[in-house]
Amino acid sequence: MASMDEWIRRDEAVIWHGFTQMSCFADNEPLIIERAAGNELIDVDGRRYFDGISSLWVTTLGHRIPELDEALIEQTRRIAHSTLLGNGNRATVEFAEALGEVVPVERPHLLFASDGAAAVEQALKIAFQYWVNRGEHRRHTYLALGGAYHGDSIGSLSLGAGGFGTDLFDPLRFPVLRVPGYEDPDWAGRAVQTIDDHASELAAIVLEPLVQGASGMQTTDPDSVLQVVTRAQEAGLLVIADEVATGFGRTGALFASELSSVVPDLLCLGKGMTGGYLPMSATVANERVYDAFLGPDSSEVTFHHGHSYSGNALAAAVGHRHLELIEEWDVLVNVAERAQELAKLLDEQIKMHPAVQAIRQRGLMVGVELAPPEQGLRWGRRVCAAAVRRGVLLRPLGDVIVLVPPLTTTTDQVALLVDALGSAIEEVCG
Ligand SMILES: Cc1ncc(COP(=O)(O)O)c(C=O)c1O
Repeated sequence: MASMDEWIRRDEAVIWHGFTQMSCFADNEPLIIERAAGNELIDVDGRRYFDGISSLWVTTLGHRIPELDEALIEQTRRIAHSTLLGNGNRATVEFAEALGEVVPVERPHLLFASDGAAAVEQALKIAFQYWVNRGEHRRHTYLALGGAYHGDSIGSLSLGAGGFGTDLFDPLRFPVLRVPGYEDPDWAGRAVQTIDDHASELAAIVLEPLVQGASGMQTTDPDSVLQVVTRAQEAGLLVIADEVATGFGRTGALFASELSSVVPDLLCLGKGMTGGYLPMSATVANERVYDAFLGPDSSEVTFHHGHSYSGNALAAAVGHRHLELIEEWDVLVNVAERAQELAKLLDEQIKMHPAVQAIRQRGLMVGVELAPPEQGLRWGRRVCAAAVRRGVLLRPLGDVIVLVPPLTTTTDQVALLVDALGSAIEEVCG
């Protein structure tokens, strides 16, 4: 069997990795994963790593869940995919029915896609056309937040606050109204003021309820989210909740909107939607939005948008079973209990370290912000590399160490995660 070095060489010969400088791909000691068991990834040399980032926040119950494997195999015996453009598929109908019962959206209709960015892009276009269909042509601006991240397509990038080296695309990004993000304790006040000042030109407000994940797990309180959403809905704006990261249990509820008691007009789902098995996302629209698109066949009010793999039957079958398992296994109870344990251990073992500036947590989404004394030390990346050597896979956002363990993480795995992080910080930051 080829060694890790050999696999890395073969990898970089043919693959262009996202958000990765390929000239030093090999120097950064990447892992080439071959298989997994539960919450552990196993590399081509047979070494095991606890998946401390849920494979970029998509894995929920763990890897190779027999029930999900079975749902996938069962669906392959029927059909893998048939188009949702103008036609339907039984597996997708059944999944949409089940999801429709639990999403915090009134009388929902789901438009499926494959990535989070596509779900956001759809929401943007739906919000724009909603107002056009209603004959209100002035409402085409979006209110977005500082620190926001909604994906990498041009539309979702426009809503996002930039950064991550994407600023060079600024000439392509369309302008939005932007208020501070959750980092600013007065973000809600500023958002409410902007809604009041600009209501007649705003199509929608877009926010990540409770946690801005990619900006380093910036958190806010449910009341602030409720205050802003309420004001937006009173002013007639559409509210787009981007729950691509927070959805499917990460924050302790099935959806973070529930914790804030908000009912968005459009809800974006992705990542954990199939438990991390298959790429599937969706934009969920309420009745008010959906009805504005009804009219004569082929008329202009139709939403002329759709993706080839929209509503893929394999993904739908897995997503459906996944939703049942979240309930059957009382997964949200585990999230609440492990989140408490994690908070306690971080408080006892990590918080006092001089290199740690802040710890932010909501459920099983955590950001540990390091404070390097000077630029260029790459503490975030080096601490994560040190954690990987200790058998815990982590990936930073700048100097914020992100902890997003699977929702089925055990007490022992919480301890392993914090131990590895503590000794990695000690090794790198002294
Ligand atoms: C809140 C949020 N929205 C959208 C996206 C984009 O999702 P995807 O990477 O699947 O396109 C992300 C990805 O991290 C996200 O965190």
